Amino acid sequence: MDLSFNEEQVGFKKLARDFLDKEVVPFRAAWDRAESVDTAIIPKLGQIGFFGLTIPEEYGGLGGDYITYCIGMEELGRADSAVRGIVSVSMGLVGKVILSHGTEEQKQQWLPGIADGTTLACFGLTEPDTGSDAGNLKTRATRDGDDWILNGNKIFITNGTWADVCLVFARTGGPGPKGVSAFLVPTDTPGFGRTEIHGKLGLRGQATAELSFDGVTVPASALLGAEGEGFKIAMHSLDKGRVSVAAGCVGIIQGCLEAVVDYSTQRRQFGRPLASFQMIQDMIADISVDADAARLLTWRAADLIERGEPFGTEASKAKYFASEAAVRAANLAIQAFGGYGYVDEYPVQKYMRDARVMTLYEGTSQIQKLLIGRAETGVSAFL
Ligand code: CAA
Repeated sequence: MDLSFNEEQVGFKKLARDFLDKEVVPFRAAWDRAESVDTAIIPKLGQIGFFGLTIPEEYGGLGGDYITYCIGMEELGRADSAVRGIVSVSMGLVGKVILSHGTEEQKQQWLPGIADGTTLACFGLTEPDTGSDAGNLKTRATRDGDDWILNGNKIFITNGTWADVCLVFARTGGPGPKGVSAFLVPTDTPGFGRTEIHGKLGLRGQATAELSFDGVTVPASALLGAEGEGFKIAMHSLDKGRVSVAAGCVGIIQGCLEAVVDYSTQRRQFGRPLASFQMIQDMIADISVDADAARLLTWRAADLIERGEPFGTEASKAKYFASEAAVRAANLAIQAFGGYGYVDEYPVQKYMRDARVMTLYEGTSQIQKLLIGRAETGVSAFL
């Protein structure tokens, strides 16, 4: 794995950081309090190219490799994880599977809008009764002539109330993973209900929703991939999504490091800068090592994707380590800031609240450990 950045990667990192430092960082605390970003940021993110990373130019994307993608997600995570989630779900979880599993017509219909941020997508997998046990989801799609009729519910869906299209996973066959199919459902289809979930601990700037499908009717052309292939599509999407979450967590850790270094070199206690105390340097060293370790695990998974090699276990390792490390880093950062770390004048409390969900969504730390354990032993500990 070559760890030196090429000119394009260096250029994108600078472009991304300059843009986010001007257009996101100054507003993130207010968006967090208001429980919504200013949605005018979404098309601006599109213009910079965040939504088009790794989507080929023929579908309106920027092209680009997976390391550049990780750089983009890291910069977004450092700036505001709520904003990263909007991009990551629309382009990462949905856009990329349309690219890998969609028909040419589906690609032409959805990808250009997703790639420039004018179309927002959401990923409808999780249900009230099936979070980790995604293969047992209950939402049903029934064939009716040339159409499919969807009935059921989804929960904790990022972008749910803002999205134009939802990738819905629904049961078209018998029980278990093999009975699941995937559908691209426009959210303005009659019977498609959505309600925003308020009062989240973190990621408050993004719209997280409950969805309901009450006789939602879509044509056969809405089916993504083959009938019964939906669970594999979801897993394929999540494998890459986990790399994106890991990269976002690297951004959180990096943001914590920069915040603590800034603060501790400026603030004085007992007549000396905080940075001159051994216990503060102990915290900074732990955060710094976690940033490097998480970044390297993430880039290893990205490098495997780029080379077309299996990467699922490496994605699980990166996501598991980086998300737990982001919680550790934010916790240490608050400790280093003392009381100032507990109020939103400084970003570290927001890093903590945003980091906390990273060990839950796109597969909990426990699910990642079981996937890693299964890969190491060849024995499945899932029921
Ligand atoms: N890629 C392709 N196919 C895969 C796969 C992968 N990564 N993983 C499994 N499959 C295939 C298997 O090969 C198997 O097919 P065959 O029988 O033909 O071999 C089939 O799928 C079933 O696989 P498993 O037996 O492994 O399935 P399982 O029911 O035991 O469960 C699980 C697997 C790992 C627990 C899975 O359910 C899982 O990952 N759960 C976590 C769900 C999750 O991450 N949810 C996140 C919600 S989305 C979100 O958070 C988005 C958001 O808005 C932020």
